[in-house]
Parts: sequence; C-alpha cells; structure tokens
Amino acid sequence: SLPGVGWKILAGLALVLGMAWYSISREERYLHLFPFPVQDDSMLCPPGEVEKKATLLLGNYTRDHPLFLQLNNYFWVKTPSPYELPYGTKGSEDSLLRVLAITSYSVPQSLQSMKCRRCAVVGNGLRLLNSSLGEAINKYDVVIRLNNAPVHRYEADVGSKTTMRLFYPESAHFDPKRENNPDTLLVLVPFKPMDFLWLETILNDKKRVHKGFWKQPPLIWDANPEQVRILNPYFMEITAAKLLNLPMKQLRKVKQKPTTGLLAITLALHFCDLVHIAGFGYPDSANKKQTIHYYEQITLKSMVASEHNISQETQAIKKMLDLGIIKNLTYF
Ligand SMILES: *[C@@H]1O[C@H](CO)[C@@H](O)[C@H](O)[C@H]1NC(C)=O
Ligand SMILES: *[C@@H]1O[C@H](CO)[C@@H](O)[C@H](O)[C@H]1NC(C)=O
Ligand SMILES: *[C@@H]1O[C@H](CO)[C@@H](O)[C@H](O)[C@H]1NC(C)=O
Ligand SMILES: *[C@@H]1O[C@H](CO)[C@@H](O)[C@H](O)[C@H]1NC(C)=O
Repeated sequence: SLPGVGWKILAGLALVLGMAWYSISREERYLHLFPFPVQDDSMLCPPGEVEKKATLLLGNYTRDHPLFLQLNNYFWVKTPSPYELPYGTKGSEDSLLRVLAITSYSVPQSLQSMKCRRCAVVGNGLRLLNSSLGEAINKYDVVIRLNNAPVHRYEADVGSKTTMRLFYPESAHFDPKRENNPDTLLVLVPFKPMDFLWLETILNDKKRVHKGFWKQPPLIWDANPEQVRILNPYFMEITAAKLLNLPMKQLRKVKQKPTTGLLAITLALHFCDLVHIAGFGYPDSANKKQTIHYYEQITLKSMVASEHNISQETQAIKKMLDLGIIKNLTYF
C-alpha cells in the first residue's frame, strides 16, 4: 500500500530534519540563523570544559589535590612539603594540626556530588557598584567571595549567595553571620604560621595574640568552627608558579605574592566546570584618586606598598579570558 510507505518516508524525513535542526541550533556559529532565543548559552554547563582548557595553561594540571587541608595528612602521616607558607606547610605542621583538630576539612556533599559546577568568582572591584548583577550571581552553583567584601545592603549588585569566602586574619573584618549564609565555607588562606594561631585562639576563645600581624585582625569573630576550612596551599603554589611565573626555587628573593582574587580563580579552575568572574580589575593606573572597591574608600595608592603586582596579575587574567578558560561578567 503506497500511501503507508509515503507516510513512513515523510516521517523519516521529518526525523532527519529535526535532528539536523537540533545539532545545528546547538552550535554557536549558527546561532544568528535563528531569530528567536534558542537558550541562554552562557549558563550551560559542559562537564569538564574548564578542566580541558586549564590543561593548556597549567601544564601539569591535576584535580587530585584536596581543596582543604586534611587532618589525617598531618596526624597519621607526616606529609612533607617543599615550601613554607603561603606555598606549603613546611615548618608550620604543629600549629596547623591544632587548628585542624577543631575545624573541618570535608567538601559538603551538596557540592561534591554536583555533576557540573558553574562558578562565579566575585571580586571586590568598584565595577560591581550599580551593576545590578546580584540576581545573575545568585544563579551560579558556587559563588566565591573574597576577604571582607560585604553582601548586606549590596545584594542588588553583588548577590547574597556565598558558597565560599576566602580570607586571612587581617582581612577577616566581616561579620561571619551577617555577611554569609549559614552554610558558607569560611576558607582561611594561610600566609604565615601566626594565621593558624589566630584561628585557634579565636575559635577556642583563648588569650588573643596581638603581635605578628601587619594589621590588627578581629579579636571577636563569631563563626561556627564547622564552617571553617584551611585552603590547601597547593593552589597558592600553582598561582605563583604557573600564573605569575615566580621563581619557586628562590622564593626568599621574591617579595611578591598573589592576591586572594587570583588565588580564588586558580581554585575555581580546579573545582568548577564553568568559571565566570565579576568585579575584577582596577581603575587606570594613572587615576590614583579613584576608589577601587565597591564598599570602601581606598584608592590604588593603598596597593603600592602591598606585595602584589597588579599589572602582572591583570595580564594573567587577560590571558585566561583570551584563551576562553574564564569569562567576565563586568568590564575587565
Ligand atoms: C610535572 O609533574 C612531574 C611529576 O610530579 C614532575 O616531575 C615534572 O617536573 C612536572 N613538570 C612541570 C613542567 O612542572
Ligand atoms: C551609583 O548610583 C548612584 C545613584 O544612582 C550614583 O549616585 C553613584 O554615583 C553611582 N556610582 C557609580 C560608581 O556608578
Ligand atoms: C610587575 O611585573 C611586571 C611584569 O612581570 C614587571 O615588569 C614589573 O617590574 C613588576 N612591578 C613591580 C612593582 O615589581
Ligand atoms: C568583558 O571585558 C571586555 C573588555 O575587556 C568588555 O568588552 C566586555 O564587555 C566585558 N564583558 C562583560 C559581560 O561585561
């Protein structure tokens, strides 16, 4: 019966056309052929995407290193580290052990089990002010924030979700409860052995230590120890060695250290499948009076005495943007 065969041919043709349309519509270069929005492409999450691209930039790239330092690596076995803080734990093992005994080191199951992690690394830059990016930022699976950057009263521009906050004692001047969510991981970036001591005394309510910090860290810090983690210094090492090409064999000769911001991007490259950055970048270096943060009145001048090399870090971030490893949500 011919009509039956005809229908089958027609159905087959429709199927082939449908499949062709589907595969074409998913390719970015054909997107302009479709006058209607196909999908919000920027938020798709191709598993392994960042991993593939990061290998190009980071050479010996591996995701085998735990995000946070683990008690069993210092208690049962003595894990040797070639570097001292902030690039390793050599010489700081005892104070580290005391902190690991009272904090936690697991990646929460809700994060660990995610098939694909879309991450936003939110810098503290002035560009976030009046950006209205808050809602967009809250949509990411993982939001990483830095230091004392506030969320309270800035929700419309910076969002309110904080999965991890990277900080060190001198930058811990934030209200751990008000500026974070109940499940935010408070991730200490250890720069010196004293940093472990600060955390131990403040969490155990022991006598505070005042000397040995370049700025007074908070003396009261109402955080739940179960939310606190110690960042694996491996990520600081990779940031210095691979992104900034610092001479790791003669570290005593270099004063330069990576910023928490660049470190956070490195961390994201090792944990996420999609990495978008917002609020990164500084004003033109000629403009010494322009404030640099969205929440405080400090200028580029205040960075001059720091151990950071802003222009070199800018180049490193530009390179990652150019290679398509990361994307920017604000002008960079
Ligand atoms: C890559 O890792 C191996 C083993 O850890 C090491 O021997 C080698 O020097 C590394 N290569 C680079 C370019 O870092
Ligand atoms: C943000 O908006 C406010 C009010 O509209 C304005 O006064 C301020 O100058 C803006 N700030 C920036 C950095 O654009
Ligand atoms: C920062 O790094 C650049 C490029 O590596 C270098 O030319 C410059 O001298 C450095 N600046 C400072 C202040 O060390
Ligand atoms: C990213 O930065 C570039 C300039 O470096 C800018 O042209 C582009 O608009 C920025 N993207 C977004 C989404 O702001």
